[in-house]
Parts: sequence; structure tokens; C-alpha cells
Amino acid sequence: MNPKAITTERDARVTRLYEQLVEIEQRLIPTGLHVFGRASELQEKADLLRMVASFDRPEQGARALQRLVADALGVESYDALLHETSTSETRQLIDGVAADAVRQCCEHGVETAVDWLISKAGVDSEESRPTFLLIAKVADQLDANNEIDSLARALRGEYIRPGPGADIVQNPLVLPTGRNTHAVNPYSVPSQMAFARAKHTADALLRRYFEEHGRYPRALALVLWGLDNIKTQGEGVAQALWLLGVRPVRDALNRATEIEIIPLEELRRPRIDVVMTVSGIFRDLFMPTMALLDKAVRRVATLDEPLDMNYVRRNVSEKIHADSSEFDDAVTRVFSNAPGNYGTNVNFMVMQSAWENDATLGDLFVTRKCFAYARDSKGRSVEGREARELMDDALSRVEATYQNIDSFEVGITDVDHYFEYLGGISKAVETRAKSRPSIYLSDSLSPQTKIRSLEETVRLETRAKTLNPKWYEGMLKHGFRGVAEIENHVANTFGWSATADAVDPWIYTEISKTFLLDPIMLDRLRELNPHSLQSLARRLLEAHNRGYWNPNEEILERLRDIVEQQLDRGGTV
Ligand code: BEZ
Ligand code: MG
Repeated sequence: MNPKAITTERDARVTRLYEQLVEIEQRLIPTGLHVFGRASELQEKADLLRMVASFDRPEQGARALQRLVADALGVESYDALLHETSTSETRQLIDGVAADAVRQCCEHGVETAVDWLISKAGVDSEESRPTFLLIAKVADQLDANNEIDSLARALRGEYIRPGPGADIVQNPLVLPTGRNTHAVNPYSVPSQMAFARAKHTADALLRRYFEEHGRYPRALALVLWGLDNIKTQGEGVAQALWLLGVRPVRDALNRATEIEIIPLEELRRPRIDVVMTVSGIFRDLFMPTMALLDKAVRRVATLDEPLDMNYVRRNVSEKIHADSSEFDDAVTRVFSNAPGNYGTNVNFMVMQSAWENDATLGDLFVTRKCFAYARDSKGRSVEGREARELMDDALSRVEATYQNIDSFEVGITDVDHYFEYLGGISKAVETRAKSRPSIYLSDSLSPQTKIRSLEETVRLETRAKTLNPKWYEGMLKHGFRGVAEIENHVANTFGWSATADAVDPWIYTEISKTFLLDPIMLDRLRELNPHSLQSLARRLLEAHNRGYWNPNEEILERLRDIVEQQLDRGGTV
């Protein structure tokens, strides 16, 4: 080997060794155990903050410090530079300036760091301030500790604020500690698989609507639940994105924080406007996902496309022209409960027979759910602002409502939550749009997606469960509780009459025949659980009184007898 070749090989080896040393040096490691209730005593806080600052955080309006420095210094491609070796002089320069800027921020505060970075690299103050604000916030939160206080609150049975369980660099929102940690990573939603499945489901939903109406709905209202989206890795979320005609895009940390517009030529249908009502659990678990959904609607509303191919834009501009609304208001589509609140209460109102006029149920839904979660055009976060008028307006354009069911185990008559949400929003639409929407459901676990109308689903559930001897005999083996389950099914079925007028009268007749008009069954129920038996008979009478069912006088007499006999035996009123 000639001397020159030997020198070259030696240099390459030394460089590789150096690279490895730098990699080890820069790697963050925990340097001790966390002591419960004590603030972190991180020696390497500045290193940690430098890592935090080195990622774009679009959800917080903050760009990576290194990227800001690179842009200001006129470095052509920062992304390509990241793949170069850390011995690159340009990269060392950028990393050095960023590290010093973080130190300035920790030692002298945000404004000093902003000024320092202007003087060192000419980075615009408006660009760097959000990043320094984030660094300062994380630094403060590292110094704080609420763990003992939170533990004491938990032991007293009080509310503990939730917070994500993740890595600080990946997601600085894990701070402060001492919160009710949830293990799901909201940034992972929707998964690629969920998006692929959602495409089929959303297409099937639109196809079904088109077949029934000869056109697409100008707006759809969707119900999104937290546990469902955990279980399906975000199928409901992905369906909303697909209806809008956008794809989720992952950032450098593999988090779904961005969206990409699917061109109309590829979509081959209009972009559908979607009004999203998310549960309180979803709001607590998936705040970044709400931001993604809001971002998607905003982007779609600003696309330069024909109005007849972009219903979001059409509806938003209609609203702006109708009452001179601001764009930020007209484009609001993500609603949930007020911060800290859960549920619609529509189920309680129905179960307690506490309404006179159907419209009240829809009004209650809106009262509970009209809190907007968005980021305005200036990037300011709006989390839980009461926006009743905006929700009323958005719902007034809705022509179909929809919810994805995540499992076969819990169907629409097993629990009262389906009718409180999907029924509640459908009733709210009916009074605001002055027309009952088409109501659809699908389930996620079947290999092919099947879209069913609500009426079809109620029939299916009634036949498969409530009226099926295999189901109710299985329940009756549980004695007292089993009768209560049967009564619950009937009450939940009644909930679909109250909120959506979706129950065929024959269903009430068959329920009466099966459980109350058969003397042997009646005795069994009376023996096992007279309270639920009475509630069941009263519920059927209420269905008649409210006009959902008009049985013959003989059936009514029998139902009244059962209620009265129970009262004579000391049953509850
Ligand atoms: C949810 O997972 O978001 C949820 C669960 C039960 C009732 C309502 C919503
Ligand atoms: Mg009950």
C-alpha cells in the first residue's frame, strides 16, 4: 500500500471513531432515579432543553432552533445537513449557536435569548420567540413538582388533571408530572392501517348516501369517542380526514401533526364538510388529534377549488356572506364538552322521562357539547370556548350523521351512550336543519365494511339480542342483574325512539309479547326482579304515551295491570 493510501485509511478510521464518540457524548441518559415528590435535579437540563428545541413542534407553533439558525444563515438544505456527519463544519456551527441560545434562554430569559439570536445569526424575533417560550415553559415545568399534592387529591377521590405518558423530548406536554397519566400516544393516531380501512368505510358511507339521495351530503356530523379511537388506532379520526379529502402526514418524530391535500383528480368526488363532536374522554386523550382535525378543515376551506367540489369552502363562504362572520368562526368544526365536563346528559333526560318536546333533547346535546377546540388564524389556541351559535350554524347544514362502532361486544342498545351521542346529535340536526338527517353506523371489526342505517341497526340488535332466546335466557341466568339488563335494552331501544324516531312499532309489540304477555315469563321476571319488571312495563306505556307505538287496548290494559299490581305489592313509583 502506498503511503498516501495508508494516510487516507487512517483518517477515515479516526473520523469514524470520532463520530461514535460524539454520538455517545450527545446521547441523553437518565443520571439517577426520580424521587417521588421532588423536582428533577437534572445536571444536564440544558442538554435536554437543546434536544427539546431541536424538533419542529407545529402543534405549538414552534420551529426547531437549529432549523431557524440554518435558514437565517442561508444554509440551503437543513434536512440534507442532518444526514451528514456531525463533523460537518456547517452543522457544528449551527449546533453550537443553538446550544448557546438555549443557555441564554435558561440563564437570562426569553427576550434576551431572542435578542442574542438576532445578533448572532439574524433570526427573526417572531420566528424564534415561540421556540424560546416553549423552552422556558419546559424549564419551569422541570422545576415544578405536584406529585405529593396529586397523590393526596387522588386519595381524597378528587379530580387529577390528565397528562400523556411519553418521553419529554418526544412530547414535552408530559410535564408537569403528578398528573393522571394515560398511556396512549395521541400522535400515533391515525395509524396507516386505520387510514386504509377508513378510506373503504368513508367511501361506503358516501356511496350509500349517494344511492339513497342521488347526490353527496353537503355536511356530515360525526361522533368520535376516545376508547374507540384507541382500540382502532384512530379509524374514526381517519374517516373524518378521508371525508375532507386529506391524508395525515408524519413529522420527523413520526407524529401525525400535519396533513396533505389529496388532489380532486385522485379523490374523484367533492370534499365533504364534517362537524365533529368528540367525547370528553377523546378530548382528554387526543388533544393533538383535535388540532389535526381542526387544521385539516381550515386548510380545506382555503383551497382554491370550485364550490361544488369543496363543500367545506362552500359552507364557510356561505356563512361569511350570510352574516359577515370571521373566517375563524365560520370554519369551526371540532366541538366537545367544556373543559372538565363529560357526557351529553341526554341519556339521563330520557331515562328520567324529563322532557316534553323532542327538540329539548337536541338542545341539551348542544348545550353540553358546544365548546370549540381550535387554533385560530394567528395560531392562538382556543380550547373549550363556548360557541353555541357556531355549532347551531354548522349543524344546520348537516344532512347525515354517523358513528363508527368499534366492537361487536357493545352495541347500540347495550348502553345508553350511543343514543345520547348519535341520537342526541341527530335530534339537534333535525331541529336546526329543519329536516331529519339520514343516520348511519358501521362496525370496525368485520373484514368488509358494512354501512347500516340506524333503523336497520336497531332491527338487527333487537333480533340478535333483545328478542333472541339465546340472549335473554343467558341474561336470566344472572337472576336479578339479568332482568335489569333486559330492562336496560328496552330503555336504550326507547332512547332511539326519543332521539331519532328509529324504532319500528313491531319491536315494542314483540317485546311486550315476549316478556310481559307470556304468563310464565312474567312470573319468572317478577320472581327475579320486580323493580326492573315494573320499569319495563312503564317504559312500554311511555312509548305509547309519547306516540312511538300504538298497540291495541288489550295490550295496554295488561301493561297497566302489571304496573298497578307491582304498586300494590310495594313496587317503586
Ligand atoms: C369514549 O370512549 O369516549 C366514551 C366512552 C363511553 C361513553 C362515551 C364516550
Ligand atoms: Mg336502567
